[in-house]
Amino acid sequence: MPSLPCAELHLHIEGTLEPDLIFALAARNGIDLPYADTADLAARYAFTDLQSFLDLYYANMDVLRTEEDFADMTRAYLRRAAAAGVRHAEIMMDPQAHLARGVALETCVNGVAGALATSEAEFGVSTALIAAFLRDRPATEALGVLQNLLAMDAPIIGIGLDSAEVGYPPSLFAEVYDRARGAGLKCIAHAGEEGPPAYIWEALDVLRVDRLDHGIRCMEDEALVERLVLDRVPLTVCPLSNVRLRAVDTLPAHPLPEMLARGLNVSVNSDDPAYFGGYVDDNFTALGKAFGLGADQLATLAGNSFRSAFLDAGRRAALL
Ligand code: ADE
Ligand code: ZN
Repeated sequence: MPSLPCAELHLHIEGTLEPDLIFALAARNGIDLPYADTADLAARYAFTDLQSFLDLYYANMDVLRTEEDFADMTRAYLRRAAAAGVRHAEIMMDPQAHLARGVALETCVNGVAGALATSEAEFGVSTALIAAFLRDRPATEALGVLQNLLAMDAPIIGIGLDSAEVGYPPSLFAEVYDRARGAGLKCIAHAGEEGPPAYIWEALDVLRVDRLDHGIRCMEDEALVERLVLDRVPLTVCPLSNVRLRAVDTLPAHPLPEMLARGLNVSVNSDDPAYFGGYVDDNFTALGKAFGLGADQLATLAGNSFRSAFLDAGRRAALL
């Protein structure tokens, strides 16, 4: 079956590091990995919650040392995404995760951005870059990194908020978001993945986000659902991720069909495809098996992805 053309709006580039690339980069950089081989590494991808995934996700990033490493990872994702039907990708990266390891901001940003610059010509995938801040690190640190990104004129279109959610409410980052918005950047944030509906309200009312990542726990709060429907707030939903991180018990128990039926503006995305069992096409295939999505629902999901992207009018019209 041909892949459904869509935009991917929720993708962590560091979450696209496949086991074979982790081993290749480790060999190139003379790093000894604590895994016997790729099968041994992949066998550890049995997560119990978000934190159990994050521990491995951050540890594996250690193989990313040079601009070329970041560019190779990004190009591998773009090639696979094009095959998955992705025509436009808005890609998050986690600069603080690299700065904390002693990798310079220029190295990680220029490596990813360099690969993105040729993506449309090389793969037919237009792109945009979003710097995500780690909510389990101090907001003052995020503010400093944002200032450095602005000072170096980094080619980012927006900021995001990710990492461990519970205990780190969005309101901690109000000043960071005010500063970013003032600089003309788009604002997105993870909220309601593991965290409660109150975090989604804060992302909307305090951070004033343009788009929400995950947001699935909105279904526990009727007034919140009504607000999200009324304002057409885009929710970037990641079904396979939610199952692998136990945010939902099983795929058939996923709220996506109910979210669609309620009129929420949802799209389907892969989050960290190397870790969660698949790219965006795999997410659509799994949804199709679980729910038998019809042509109208698939068209709505793909249309939502293009309409929720931070695209210029010309490219949007070409894609819709
Ligand atoms: N960083 C990478 N993937 C993430 C996720 N699913 N939730 C929060 N932070 C993340
Ligand atoms: Zn995510």
